[in-house]
Amino acid sequence: MSAEKLQDITLKNGSNAEIWLIRAPDLTWQPRLRAFLNNPPVADGPALHEFLLANELPGFTVCYFTMLSGSGEIMGCIFTTDGGTAGYINSTFVTREYRQLGIGRHLMDSLEHDLESRGGRVRFFTTRTGSPAVDMFTKVGYHEVWERGGRTGMEKFYGDSTWESYFGVPYDDLSIRHVAWGDWNAHRAMSWSRNDGAWHPLDGNFVGLLRDRVENRDIQWKGLFSSDGRMVGSVVVRRKDAWVENQESVAVVDVYVHPTHSSRLNDLLDDALPASGRFQTFQNAASKDLIDAFSARGFAQETSLRDDYNHHNPQAPDIRVYTRE
Ligand SMILES: CC(C)(COP(=O)(O)OP(=O)(O)OC[C@H]1O[C@@H](n2cnc3c(N)ncnc32)[C@H](O)[C@@H]1OP(=O)(O)O)[C@@H](O)C(=O)NCCC(=O)NCCS
Repeated sequence: MSAEKLQDITLKNGSNAEIWLIRAPDLTWQPRLRAFLNNPPVADGPALHEFLLANELPGFTVCYFTMLSGSGEIMGCIFTTDGGTAGYINSTFVTREYRQLGIGRHLMDSLEHDLESRGGRVRFFTTRTGSPAVDMFTKVGYHEVWERGGRTGMEKFYGDSTWESYFGVPYDDLSIRHVAWGDWNAHRAMSWSRNDGAWHPLDGNFVGLLRDRVENRDIQWKGLFSSDGRMVGSVVVRRKDAWVENQESVAVVDVYVHPTHSSRLNDLLDDALPASGRFQTFQNAASKDLIDAFSARGFAQETSLRDDYNHHNPQAPDIRVYTRE
């Protein structure tokens, strides 16, 4: 638990302010930060900040870079979640009346310095397409990676890192272990490289999934890791699916392995997939390797979501449901 004043600032209107860094967990700051950031992404749930600020989450660095006015009012806050050298910016918010005074930019400068001083290699961010945040992030070195469904994904690599040098370097010492708190960002970022129509069952609710995993609540979430701690693949098996009536009887499997490491796909599936039980997986018809791997484990096509839910739209990706009874 720590709150640290980083810097005195003079804003563009001449008023004085202070940048503070609050590292989670911090129960003293929890009520104020939660009230200020009262609109987290729906997928992460309304109690996100309450949870993060109350719990020690090993391997996970959660920071609230906060601008305070001279009278101690919170004027703006940017909230980051970093796991090792992979960072993520979860939300940026400056109170409307204090915008365009330099608050966002000052907070960005502080958090960029913070990650770089911890050896950061890469950081990711998503925002509403067309948001002023896109301009602000571009100015501090982020670039747009994708745009879909009204959202824009941005990333920044530090030093000589690139996407491929982070996720696609060939390793001969990959190992499989449970996904932990510090892997949250790497997992989200890795998922970005999927070109399968941007639909997959792991979108959102990472906090809930990780919590279930860590507390051993009926979920298998394994990752493929290099010896220097980079996640390059993952598989999750969980008992939750809105598509079927009897939710207790079926588990959903989702898997992704960076193409450089596709030879380890079968190891990962063998490790995480229980020998018996009823399973479903949702795969793009174009993902031949994955469909072959599931077919070899007894999965058969049950239906196509394009036919069932997208009104036979030929432009929609052909996501198919494969089932093992
Ligand atoms: C995005 C946001 C955090 C920017 O905060 P801010 O304190 O107003 O930003 P700053 O005054 O420090 O401006 C930072 C840079 O972005 C640019 N910028 C800020 N607002 C802008 C706007 N509305 N249009 C275009 N550029 C803008 C500025 O030109 C500035 O560049 P400079 O440093 O070269 O002068 C703020 O507008 C906000 O909270 N918006 C609503 C929430 C949101 O959209 N968050 C992002 C999604 S998570």
